[in-house]
Amino acid sequence: MNELKKRAGLILDAPDADTNSKLLKICQLLDQEVDYYNWTGFYFRNGEKEELILGPYVGAETDHTIIPFGKGICGQVAVSGETFVVPDVHAQDNYLSCSIDTKSEIVVPIFKDGKNIGQIDIDSHKIDPFTKADEELLQWICQEVGKLL
Ligand code: SME
Repeated sequence: MNELKKRAGLILDAPDADTNSKLLKICQLLDQEVDYYNWTGFYFRNGEKEELILGPYVGAETDHTIIPFGKGICGQVAVSGETFVVPDVHAQDNYLSCSIDTKSEIVVPIFKDGKNIGQIDIDSHKIDPFTKADEELLQWICQEVGKLL
C-alpha cells in the first residue's frame, strides 16, 4: 500500500496534466494494482444541486451517472461525509446495483475547504475484502485530490 501511495502521489503532483486525466490515472493505477478493486471511479457534487455526477472511472459502464443525495451507498456518503465500507452489498437495502458481479463496496468522501464535494467509489467482486489499509490509502488519496480541486 505504501508503494501505491507513492505512485498515486506522483500522478497527483504531476505539473503538466489536467485534473480529470490525473483522476483517471488514479483509477487505472488502483484498478491495475489491487486485484479485488473491480470498479473504481469518482463522483462529484453537481454544482449546488443535491446530486452526484459520475466523473472519471475504470470498469463496466454504469447506469448510475447521476445519484441523488441519500440514494445508494454513494448518496448516503454525500450526506454523512463518512467513509462507508460495505462488506456484503446484498445485506444493504439502500443500495444501487451497478453490476451483478459486485459483492462489496467502499466509498470515501472528498473534502474541499471542509465541504463534502465528492467521493471515490470502489466495487469488488469479493465478499468483505476491504481492510483498514484500504481505508487509509483511499482516505489519503481523497485528501490529496481535495487539494487539487
Ligand atoms: N453502488 C453504488 C452506485 C454506484 S456504482 O457502484 C458504480 C451505490 O449504491 O451508491
